[in-house]
Amino acid sequence: MSINYSEKIPNNVDLASDRTLQRALERWQPEFINWWGDMGPEGSNSFDVYLRTAISVDPKGWAHFDYVRMPDYRWGIFLNPAEAERKVNFGAHKGEAAWQEVPGEYRSNLRRLIVTQGDTEPASVEQQRYLGLTCPSLYDLRNLFQVNVEEGRHLWAMVYLLHRYFGRDGREEGDALLERRSGDPDNPRILGAFNEKTPDWLSFYMFTYFTDRDGKFQLCALAESGFDPLARTCRFMLTEEAHHMFVGESGVGRVIQRTCEVMRQNKVEDPEQVRALGVIDLPTIQRYLNFHFSVTMDLFGADVSSNAATFYTTGLKGRYEETKLGDDHLLNSNTYPVLQVQGEKLVTVYEPELNALNERLRDDYIKDSIGGVERWNKIIDKQGIPFRLTVPHKAFNRRIGPLSESRINPLGEVVSDSEWQARQDEWLPSAADRAYVASLMGRVTTPGQFANWVAPPPRGINNQPVDFEYVRFN
Ligand SMILES: [Fe+2]
Ligand SMILES: [Fe+2]
Repeated sequence: MSINYSEKIPNNVDLASDRTLQRALERWQPEFINWWGDMGPEGSNSFDVYLRTAISVDPKGWAHFDYVRMPDYRWGIFLNPAEAERKVNFGAHKGEAAWQEVPGEYRSNLRRLIVTQGDTEPASVEQQRYLGLTCPSLYDLRNLFQVNVEEGRHLWAMVYLLHRYFGRDGREEGDALLERRSGDPDNPRILGAFNEKTPDWLSFYMFTYFTDRDGKFQLCALAESGFDPLARTCRFMLTEEAHHMFVGESGVGRVIQRTCEVMRQNKVEDPEQVRALGVIDLPTIQRYLNFHFSVTMDLFGADVSSNAATFYTTGLKGRYEETKLGDDHLLNSNTYPVLQVQGEKLVTVYEPELNALNERLRDDYIKDSIGGVERWNKIIDKQGIPFRLTVPHKAFNRRIGPLSESRINPLGEVVSDSEWQARQDEWLPSAADRAYVASLMGRVTTPGQFANWVAPPPRGINNQPVDFEYVRFN
């Protein structure tokens, strides 16, 4: 399972033994590089960046760190090792040998799952394209670029599956993944959150905390797939994904840290006074949190979904930690709670669990995402400031599913349209909030220096010091 770096496309799938596939991917490769040039990090092509590159799929020592120019990054195809005698672990095919080729009758659903996942990867690179121009430090700039090159590699991971297992329509989907553009009204990315802007670094940290975590849960569910190549691909992607969420959690934590330090030193609490000191007031951080949490809620799809049931029953997409769950893995007779608006209230109704698998994954996600918010609250507590961040109710500000038809506040109360209009600036970042945060975004490129609104991290990357020259501009 070692990775062959002597080939044009690094891989551990013995690409050289399949000349047709190799040629198809080598034709896609320059298209990818063109896309990176057009839509990747703005103005970065000549930078030497201290990046990690996957060199093995062994969990110990899989990564190598060195300076790389991003257009020369060795994007490749890495699958976790095959598990001997792996089975389909859920649904109607439970107990059968896991599939090494695509089952014909599930071909289009499987392709759709792969394309939907694949589409998010270049989308996030596009969303983050201009952030390098306003980096708060070299350390942060390097982390941004690390996330970007790995999202590029995740696109490679999905395109490999499309080319290898779906023939001509797979190749067409691979091309289309480089043609859609985040936020483009004519040819947008598939999922809503991936067409939103990521205009500032607070948004970037929130995105990597909340939206990359959606990625984690989707990948975990696909890593259970009965289609073994998909499962193995997603397992390795998860290894890389952990750092993206670290960038988010530590980034938001450092913003909070800095704000609280300034509040305490200057004995101010009023948001206007906090802003006058050049840091981001806590209520604004809460509104950004509300926004990113709610758009990420929508990524899990409709609360009740017959597609989700089909993906499960046919063995294509499992639940989070499917094999650790102690039920029959068929779910034909189970129910699961979902929310509905009845009259003026949110009420819980019970749906067949098979149809509520999106809701279940959303709930698993919420449990996971609350942990980091509690760690952020500890930072605030330590500074003795009476303020708590909370995640909004899962029905707040939804755009997908039946809950999107009602106005629901962060506490989960149904409110009138006029109340929503009057109060939405308390709940979501207003134009003024965004303008204020944008006004803080400068560009700090001296090693070891940080923008005023964010605290330095406690330690650097890969045991390097915080003031290491993580990016050389040349
Ligand atoms: Fe990704
Ligand atoms: Fe990610």
